[in-house]
Amino acid sequence: MPETLAKVHVRTTINGQPMEFLVPPYLSLLDTLREEAGLTGSKEGCLDGNCGACTVIVDGRIVDSCLVLGVEVEGKQVQTVEGLATPAGLHPLQQAFLEEAALQCGICTPGFLVSAKALLDREPHADEHRIRHWLAGNLCRCTGYDKIVRAVIKAEDMAAQLSRSKNGPRSAARTPAKKPAAQAKATSKSSAGTRGGRR
Ligand code: FES
Ligand code: FES
Repeated sequence: MPETLAKVHVRTTINGQPMEFLVPPYLSLLDTLREEAGLTGSKEGCLDGNCGACTVIVDGRIVDSCLVLGVEVEGKQVQTVEGLATPAGLHPLQQAFLEEAALQCGICTPGFLVSAKALLDREPHADEHRIRHWLAGNLCRCTGYDKIVRAVIKAEDMAAQLSRSKNGPRSAARTPAKKPAAQAKATSKSSAGTRGGRR
């Protein structure tokens, strides 16, 4: 069978932009993003779900894109590191990573940024313990973990300040940290690659 006949038509939304691809059914989401969408921010590390360099957000859940097929994002919302910055500027996490020098070789950085964004979206005032726990699925071979955690804490403060300046002082008032809700284990096929259990 000619290879083109074996490809699958996928319609999805990446960083708010509708996109369509014709991809082989075996192509990972990581390769689909990098080769079909030209979004090379997500990095290839271990290719077996251990390092988190390929982390993206699919329908609000972080996944290792090396463990998900491109065809599985049909009809879904995908966020990658390229979607963090806006025309107004860098995301607070990106700015804080720069200011805290929270990167060395930078291979792990996109995955850390995407994972941390998912945390801040859910828990904008997560404490250090929670941040370290959340980021446990992202490995930095340069071992710059302290700077990364400091950057995430700084980004929380920057985001709160931004919120106050936009909406007034009450909008970003700190609330008591909630205990993390138990996460359902990823059981369905469509949840393949999600970091079930911890997140
Ligand atoms: S490349 Fe390491 S988890 Fe995907
Ligand atoms: S900065 Fe090099 S792997 Fe993290």
